[in-house]
Amino acid sequence: MAVAATISGVRERPTERRDAWWAAPLTVVVAFTAFVVYAAWAGTRTAGYYYEPYLSPFFSPCIAANCEVLTFGAPIIGPWFTLAPAMWIVGFPLVFRATCYYFRRTYYRSYFLAPPACAVPDARGSYSGETRFPFILQNIHRYTWYVAVAIFFVLAWDALLSFRFPGGWGIGLGSLILTAEAVFIGLYTFSCHSCRALCGGWLDSFHGRPLWYRLWMAVSRLNVRHGTYFWISLTLVVVADGYIRLLSYGVIADPRIVFGP
Ligand code: FES
Repeated sequence: MAVAATISGVRERPTERRDAWWAAPLTVVVAFTAFVVYAAWAGTRTAGYYYEPYLSPFFSPCIAANCEVLTFGAPIIGPWFTLAPAMWIVGFPLVFRATCYYFRRTYYRSYFLAPPACAVPDARGSYSGETRFPFILQNIHRYTWYVAVAIFFVLAWDALLSFRFPGGWGIGLGSLILTAEAVFIGLYTFSCHSCRALCGGWLDSFHGRPLWYRLWMAVSRLNVRHGTYFWISLTLVVVADGYIRLLSYGVIADPRIVFGP
């Protein structure tokens, strides 16, 4: 008997697939919804995001006057607004991820069931693609990439600073977490399809352009694992924020070795 793709209020249409095709979209819904709930909670906190020398990636760069530590040494957003410091910055990586080519395919399948899996019909009868509002706005992705690159360099700087403790340079578990997080954010950012297009993808031919070809091949190799980098970097952002919060609230201690000034 054919397995039915059902969703309440939408007509039932069969698929011949008998495997657990629903497992991948369901996993995405559970995992990403959990991330959104956590990010909404963490991003609206006004404390617990900094434990010297660790700064949560949700709050970086910290640019508001009420930041516990200022990324650029002076506030860019004045004290006249008292929003949680993360609220000034978290929207940029959020838009970058929401418009990501990989993630678009993933959440169209998982949340909109359009379609939920290969050889499983769309939940909706009609399909307008990304030709109309609001989905036509997905085309801004190539521009958000430039902001994502800037944020990557800020996070890499945070990772470097995480080795500088009040007593001198050293290594803590937080240093390793922030470094891993910055590395995977970098892999995710530079494996982007827009980056691939910029790094030679715009050329009609690589003939006589060996440097462009090498660059394009390097990004293409990264691009193969773009989806993996998406999920690992997303997870590490949560792990880093959670770890810093637990340190800040005094729940755990940071194992570290400090070598001295
Ligand atoms: S395609 Fe995924 S970040 Fe650009």
